[in-house]
Amino acid sequence: MSQIEHAFRYNVMPLPTSMQPERGSFVITPGLAVSLQETASPRLAAGVLRAMKRMEDKTGLPLARSILLPDATAAIRVYVTSNGGAVQGLDEDESYRLEVSSSAVEVHAATTVGALHAFETLLQLTQPAGDHYAIPAVKIQDSPRFSWRGLMIDCGRHFEPLPVLKRNIDAMAAVKLNVFHWHLTEDQGFRIESKTYPKLTELGSDGLFYTQDDARELVRYARERGVRVVPEFEMPGHSMAWLVAYPELASGSTPNGIWRDFGVSNYAIDPTREETYTFLEAFLREMTTIFPDKYVHIGGDEAPAPDWKTNPRIVAFMKAHHLADNDALQAYFNQRVLAILEKLDRRMVGWDEIFNPALPKDVVVQSWRGDASLAKGAQAGYQGILSAPYYLDAMKPAGVMYLADPVPANTSLTTAQQKLILGGEITMWAEHIDQHTIDSRIWPRAAAIAERFWSAQGVVDVDDMYRRLLPVSNELETLGLQHISVEDAGLRDLAGTEDIDALRTFDSAFEPVSFSDRYKQQHTSQLTPLTSFVDAVRPDRPIRYQLASAVKELIALPSDAAARATLQEFFEKTAASIPAVMKQINAAPRLQPLQERAEQLQGLCATGREAVNYVGSQTAAPTGWKAAKLKQIEEATKPSAIVRFTFLEPLRDLVNATN
Ligand code: ACM
Repeated sequence: MSQIEHAFRYNVMPLPTSMQPERGSFVITPGLAVSLQETASPRLAAGVLRAMKRMEDKTGLPLARSILLPDATAAIRVYVTSNGGAVQGLDEDESYRLEVSSSAVEVHAATTVGALHAFETLLQLTQPAGDHYAIPAVKIQDSPRFSWRGLMIDCGRHFEPLPVLKRNIDAMAAVKLNVFHWHLTEDQGFRIESKTYPKLTELGSDGLFYTQDDARELVRYARERGVRVVPEFEMPGHSMAWLVAYPELASGSTPNGIWRDFGVSNYAIDPTREETYTFLEAFLREMTTIFPDKYVHIGGDEAPAPDWKTNPRIVAFMKAHHLADNDALQAYFNQRVLAILEKLDRRMVGWDEIFNPALPKDVVVQSWRGDASLAKGAQAGYQGILSAPYYLDAMKPAGVMYLADPVPANTSLTTAQQKLILGGEITMWAEHIDQHTIDSRIWPRAAAIAERFWSAQGVVDVDDMYRRLLPVSNELETLGLQHISVEDAGLRDLAGTEDIDALRTFDSAFEPVSFSDRYKQQHTSQLTPLTSFVDAVRPDRPIRYQLASAVKELIALPSDAAARATLQEFFEKTAASIPAVMKQINAAPRLQPLQERAEQLQGLCATGREAVNYVGSQTAAPTGWKAAKLKQIEEATKPSAIVRFTFLEPLRDLVNATN
């Protein structure tokens, strides 16, 4: 075996703090054994066995799965000093050291969580090497840049069954994210069972909620994988589901039922009644028996609460307490809730709007409005988490979100203020997703953001990120995620046939429009079926970046045959798919809105082929050609079928590059 000459790939994501390739490789052989040399908690043992099972699947080799006692002759040896905190906290030591030589693999970590991270790295490094599988010899030293690396999933607007959340937690662990922020209550649904206040789910959930056992099971599942669960209970706004069940909590107006539409509602919990706090204390006390995490998220965003300005009782209360406006009343409310949380030994997290000098410095502000509000919080001494650039429903490519940094190199924050930025959270709101489409909105883009939260500030090579993202994406499907496969399933469903070869070629030219564009183009509610073409297509498919790169290369070097071939193949294959797709569009009512897009695509592909030829051969285009084609591209940017073309920007660059 010539593994020394083999060119190994180091497709690790997130990129480790330090990674030193060495000569040789560790060959995976049948019966490979793993031993736990120091502490051997059931959590560590279970985590290692899961990793070994995945190693078996990846290599097709049966490995020894039961040797977990200290054994100096085992080829994979795990040295873990401690199981870590009884409840994983911000201070958990997640670092690890990995030493792979041709004879052994050593994992060193202070805690179980660190060792779990090491095994994810090890699995990413396991690769084919000629006629066998191997791990390249390497020395890795790794620890996270930020301690709070989250993914928020909104289960209020659309319910996500437990297995969906579990597989997303698997994926989080695979890319070293460590906080699952569980958005459990919304105007559109109350998703967590309260035994004290059973009407919350009886009247506020359509029967779609997590029992306390479900929630405890998810917390357990996440802990096994080194992931904290931070629950969010929205108050005082986004609270229609509370008020449907318990109208006595309302500030005046009471809803007739949970809200089916989306947006910012005018209903709010009444901050002026003592009964409100009695209720919230009992509720939150109950929730602490399910969620052991130190942090509880109280929402706090988007609470216009017009009742606070008109309800005479509330107006009188504000006057008596010298509360000048709604912001002041909300700050009063937050102080009261904070006192409850402190009694329950919990700390408070809330969205931007909770930021108010009236609150003590130990609340954490999650910024959804941008870097400026995050910085403002830190300058005032508050800890913060950045979310604004990581809204997945904005449908930005991974490469764009990747470059948004919670503490960018040019930050204006002092060193002390920078320390207050705990990290970031990827945000998956659920107006436009359900259990079928959620994975394709989150993955694989979230893996790139996970790298931003974990790896060094200077890790900003977008080409290299995409190079590593593709294999990681594929492996996430092996882990159980469905972000790639649901696209075909959606197309089969739309076309009503298994014969979707043409449709999937056609579909590669499209991606979903952003949340705000969809909001403008289609009235959706919680009851809208999410089975349109826009729901099947996925954001930032690999071809998008490949085309953009090929255009850059061709413009820089017109003789670049590879770039030219990539572009020609795409435009030719895509154009060739259109006649068959047109037939399917005509026969399938749900595809019919695509008629105009199909016609546009035909023209754009022709333009693409011509532009590649003109640029590639450095031949002048006929007079008027450029202007006509730029106009055609401009037309194609207009809304149609709630999808947009993935390649208009590079195509415009290419047309502009013609003479
Ligand atoms: C939010 O997006 N309203 C937190």
